[in-house]
Amino acid sequence: MNSSISSEGPAPRHRLHPGYGHPITRIWQEEARLHVDQLVYPLFITDAVNAQEEIGAMPGQYRWGVDRLEAALRPLVRKGLRAVLLFGVPSNGKDGRASCADAANSPVVQAVGVLKAAFPDLLIICDICLCAYTDHGHCCIFREDGSMDNAASIERLAEISVSYVRAGAHMVAPSDMMDGRVGAIKRALCEARLDHAPVMSYSAKFASCFYGPFRDAAHSAPAFGDRRAYQLPAGARRLALRAIERDVEEGADFVMVKPAGPYLDLIRDARDRVHVPVAAYHVSGEYAMLLHAAQAGAFDLKTAVLEALTGIRRAGADIIITYFAPQLLDWLQAEEGSGKPAVDRTES
Ligand code: PBG
Ligand code: ZN
Repeated sequence: MNSSISSEGPAPRHRLHPGYGHPITRIWQEEARLHVDQLVYPLFITDAVNAQEEIGAMPGQYRWGVDRLEAALRPLVRKGLRAVLLFGVPSNGKDGRASCADAANSPVVQAVGVLKAAFPDLLIICDICLCAYTDHGHCCIFREDGSMDNAASIERLAEISVSYVRAGAHMVAPSDMMDGRVGAIKRALCEARLDHAPVMSYSAKFASCFYGPFRDAAHSAPAFGDRRAYQLPAGARRLALRAIERDVEEGADFVMVKPAGPYLDLIRDARDRVHVPVAAYHVSGEYAMLLHAAQAGAFDLKTAVLEALTGIRRAGADIIITYFAPQLLDWLQAEEGSGKPAVDRTES
């Protein structure tokens, strides 16, 4: 067929196909591409010995015993995994002050030691919150009268941060949403002479049903009420921007938007407004949705995950925290250099 420009159809200057007709020009058009260096893999660490417990709400994800971690991660690190985010799942010892969060036998403290020794180049980020360690499952400490004690909460979060960095964590990531916690953590790290460790703040963390599977994984569902007193309402873009800007003023080295997919506008806003890298957390419910939809035959899992995460990159995320990290290490490797066109547009 003769493909020369005819008098029919759009004017030559409005024709876009020529600009992405070759596999490599197609790649050149994409300013947002996924790279393994941008991925963070969240891990659940239990104190159960030799455990590998599959998480019912998150097929393919496990609660790992500390003694199983090295073997579980070795192949991923070999394939290029650069960073992990640790969540502790203690089986007992929960109280009103989250005392077990930084006890010497805390699963996270122990996991940090194991991972540092086994994988010297792996970046270890510790999630900082109280909800997995409090008997009530909330992210804060309460006063006797049942009201939220913000001051006591941020003091405790700062203490836990210091313990984790002292244990060897490279970075702490407070996910509690208490007011002033970034400043409190920064000050405490400074006073303990541990301020080499950066803070990644869960800055724009929305009250979301998409955390449901995570709460099954971490056994951290609140015993009463919900998290609306401290997590943001879904429709609140301005409030989220204030939270992001406030955290940067308090010294956050990285900010985060969470969940990712339903809040792409905030990822873009954050990218445009603050001058620190922006992380997006593709959360447990987003993982479960894609997995179940693919299993039900709605689409191919790999294609869907790559599209969803590329969208998050395009919105402006510099870092993506995702449970799909293990598969992505394979998928992105295979993608490199293959550059096969979906449709052969060779003209004859
Ligand atoms: C705890 C915390 C939660 C997540 C990360 N840290 C749950 C919550 O706030 O209830 C959610 C992560 C996910 O859903 O993957 N503060
Ligand atoms: Zn919490």
